[in-house]
Amino acid sequence: MKVTVRYFTRTGNTKKLAEAIAQELGIQAGDITAPLDEKAEILFLCNSVYWAGADSSVKKFIAKNKEKIGLLVNVSTAAIKGSTYSQIKKIAQKEGVRLSDQEFHCTGKLSALHSSHPDEADIAAVKAFARKVTGDKNE
Ligand SMILES: Cc1cc2nc3c(=O)[nH]c(=O)nc-3n(C[C@H](O)[C@H](O)[C@H](O)COP(=O)(O)O)c2cc1C
Repeated sequence: MKVTVRYFTRTGNTKKLAEAIAQELGIQAGDITAPLDEKAEILFLCNSVYWAGADSSVKKFIAKNKEKIGLLVNVSTAAIKGSTYSQIKKIAQKEGVRLSDQEFHCTGKLSALHSSHPDEADIAAVKAFARKVTGDKNE
């Protein structure tokens, strides 16, 4: 099963989650400037909330790589607002990409706010999430 991890980050929080997932699954995480070279049966797309929404580059990545995404799994952080899931869902529906109803979300630090996050517990939780999602697919 081909599992791929891509991320978009401005301040490093999302990269930590992406690298934790990749480490757990024994693969490499790449940022979204790297297009998908082959079809990902499962794509963990790690992204975050900026100005109350998902970044436009993340939406463009989905549109550009839609033929190579089997199942999109959203992983996001935010300092205040909830996850990017609803916005990612809109673009996934528009582009005909299958989006998992399972998602991972945790708090991400913004300057002094939530300064320890993602913390060790968040990292352990995202690793468990990655195992669960990929394990479910194997069943
Ligand atoms: C330019 C900018 C805008 C942000 N806007 C929001 C926002 O509207 N709502 C929110 O909850 N968090 C907001 N945040 C906080 C980020 O969602 C949070 O810090 C996230 O973990 C950043 O991920 P990153 O480190 O991977 O870039 C913003 C952060 C930045 C840098």
